[in-house]
Amino acid sequence: MGAVALLVLAALLAPAGCGAGGDDPVRVGFSQLGAEGSWRAANTASIRSALTRADGFELTFSDDQRKQEGQVAALRRFIAADVDVIAFSPVVQDGWDPVLREARDAGVPVVVVDRSITSDLDGAYATRVGADFRAEGERAGRWVREHAPDARVFELQGTLGSGAQVGRQRGFRAVAGDQVVGEATGAFTRAGGRDVTAAALEAWPELDLVFAHNDDMALGAVEAVRAAGLRPGADVRVVSVDGTREALRALADGEIAHVVECDPLFGEQLAAVLRRVAAGDPVPERVVVPGRGFDRSVTAAQIEARAY
Ligand code: AHR
Repeated sequence: MGAVALLVLAALLAPAGCGAGGDDPVRVGFSQLGAEGSWRAANTASIRSALTRADGFELTFSDDQRKQEGQVAALRRFIAADVDVIAFSPVVQDGWDPVLREARDAGVPVVVVDRSITSDLDGAYATRVGADFRAEGERAGRWVREHAPDARVFELQGTLGSGAQVGRQRGFRAVAGDQVVGEATGAFTRAGGRDVTAAALEAWPELDLVFAHNDDMALGAVEAVRAAGLRPGADVRVVSVDGTREALRALADGEIAHVVECDPLFGEQLAAVLRRVAAGDPVPERVVVPGRGFDRSVTAAQIEARAY
């Protein structure tokens, strides 16, 4: 870890004035975008377990069913309740400025969690805690360039317009865009990944690699390849993002070729940021959750040690 990263980490972990240790809990309203699969479930569990009363938080949690209108309504409820800080994982990246203006006008700070947003509003939010999606796409693209430079690639996209879909696609295309022969969205779900890959194998019978924007869709893609009478890992390779235990098992078994990690277990980092924001203390404008790549050298011990 570099010196700058260490300084940022130290600043985040330093105790802040409000919440932990104080009498009044930090009142947090958190809108989760809804259930999609194993990554999202692990992310919710990590955040819930870091924002407990014992940790100095009073958490109001809203599961917003993958609907932006539901998330906007939740944010408005949090503003009306005058919480100390709002946190939310935006299902898509555009369209948040009206409600963010309301929060800013009401003096309620906002922290963006996991997925990125676009905004033209000054001071729309204090910081974003989450992965660098573009870097994840680039990492996947580099693997394809190096290990499958002639592969015809089908890009299995996440929820269209989400920060994760846009960033991963941009990163991948910047490195291996000329290899992409087709694209469609599987909405980050296993069923979506399976159905869309089945249709893609008919539409583009020549394809030899699927780049899936997450592991759930990748596992669905593996099922579709097998159902089409092809061999995953041999006839059609699959490259994915997340690093769930199930995907790493498929990697070890040769059904998935490469996995780029996107770590959902950043509840403690988020808690540190929320304490500081609620106390009015400075935070870095971006808190990047790091990730790595996994290939077939992944060990059984690494797989079983995965917490998601
Ligand atoms: O925003 C992060 C993405 O959303 C993860 O890759 C995916 O699995 C999740 O649902």
